[in-house]
Amino acid sequence: MKTYRAAVIGCSRMGGFIDNEVIGTPKIVLPYSHAAGFAACTQTDLVACADTRVDVMEEFGKLYNIPKASQYTDYREMIAKEQLDIVSVATQPEQRADIVIYAVEQGVKAIYAEKAMSASLAEAYAMVEALERHKVAFNLGTNRRWSPEYDRMKEVIDSGELGALKSIICYNTGTLFNMGSHYLDLALRLNSDQPVEWVQANLRANEDVFDGDLLRADPVGEGIVHFANGVTAYMLVTPRSSDYEVICENGALTAYVDGLEWQLRQRVPVDPHGHTGFMGRPFTEPEPASATLRLIEDLVQALDRGEPATRCGPRVALASTELIFAFIESHRRGGARVTLPLQARNLRLQRNATPHKPKFQA
Ligand SMILES: NC(=O)c1ccc[n+]([C@@H]2O[C@H](COP(=O)([O-])OP(=O)(O)OC[C@H]3O[C@@H](n4cnc5c(N)ncnc54)[C@H](O)[C@@H]3O)[C@@H](O)[C@H]2O)c1
Repeated sequence: MKTYRAAVIGCSRMGGFIDNEVIGTPKIVLPYSHAAGFAACTQTDLVACADTRVDVMEEFGKLYNIPKASQYTDYREMIAKEQLDIVSVATQPEQRADIVIYAVEQGVKAIYAEKAMSASLAEAYAMVEALERHKVAFNLGTNRRWSPEYDRMKEVIDSGELGALKSIICYNTGTLFNMGSHYLDLALRLNSDQPVEWVQANLRANEDVFDGDLLRADPVGEGIVHFANGVTAYMLVTPRSSDYEVICENGALTAYVDGLEWQLRQRVPVDPHGHTGFMGRPFTEPEPASATLRLIEDLVQALDRGEPATRCGPRVALASTELIFAFIESHRRGGARVTLPLQARNLRLQRNATPHKPKFQA
C-alpha cells in the first residue's frame, strides 16, 4: 500500500483545529479538519504545513508533529522542498486560486481545496483549466457530498421508489460562499450533477457590498435553480437552518437539522374516493462517517489508480461555484433570469477579513 506525502496550506480552523469546535456534535464523525483527516488516513503522511501566521502554525506543528523545519510562511518554498503528493488549501477563497494553480503547475498530483472554490468565476475556470491540463485529482470540501446520510438520500431518489425527482428545497441557503457553497453542491449532487439551465435570485445584502466588480462581503442569497432535466431547486432563507428536502412524484424525503432527524413519506390512498397523499413510512439511517476522511480516501484512490477522476472533480466544483456567481448576477440584474454558463466572470469576493483565532484546545 503506497503512502502519500501531504501538506496543509492555511493552518487555522478547517486546516487543523475545527475538530475542537465540533467534538460531541451528534452525527459529526471526526476527523473533520484537513490535518486530522491526513493523520487518520492510513495512506497519507502529513509532512509539512504553510501559513502566513507563525503563531498558528506553531500550534499546528505541535498538534500534528510537524517539525519547525517543515513549517513554512511561503507555500512556494514548501512545495519546492517537500516533494508533496497531496496539497490541501484551507485558506479563505480569496487566496485559493493562486495557490492551487501554483501547486499543480509545480507537479502536485492531488488537491483538497476548501469551499468556496475561488473568489471569482474567472479564477474557478482558470483552476479547472490547470487541473485538467495537469491531470490532477481534485476534491472540494463540500462535506455533504461525502456524507453517508446524503448518499442514502440520493440512493432513495435514484432507486425510483418515490417516482421521478421534481423539487429540492434548501430551507436556509445562508451566506453564498460560506454556507451556500455546501447547499448548492448538495442540490447538484442529489440531482446527479445535471446541468443547470437558469437561475433567478435575490441577495439579502445592502448594495454597498458592491464596489465596482469587487464584492466586499459574503452575501446571504435566496433563489431558484432550474435544471435542464426539469428539476427545480428552491434555495430559501428561513429560520429552518440545515433542513433539506427532496420531493418526488410519489413521495418526499426530508433531512432535519442536517440529518439529525429524517422523514420519509410516500403516496398512499387516503380515502375511499381515490384521493392520495404523502404519508410517513420508516426510513433506515445509515451509519455516519467522517466526510473529510472519505474525501481524502477518494483522492488517495485516484492517486493509486493513476488517473484523476474523483467524486468532486474540477467540473463538479465549478458547477456549484458558478451557481454562487449566477445568484449574484441575477440580483445585480434586478432578479432577472440568468442562463448558464455565465458570461460575466470578473466579479471578485475581496474582503478585508482578519483570519479566525482557532480553538487550540477541545
Ligand atoms: N467544510 C467545512 O465544513 C468548513 C468549515 C469551516 C471552514 N471551511 C472553509 O475553510 C476555509 C478556511 O476557513 P477558516 O475558518 O479555517 O479560515 P481562517 O480565516 O481562520 O484561516 C485561514 C488561514 O489561511 C492563512 N493564509 C492566508 N493566506 C495564506 C497564504 N498565502 N499562505 C498560507 N496561509 C495563508 C491565514 O493566515 C489563516 O490562518 C474557508 O474557505 C471556509 O469556508 C469549511
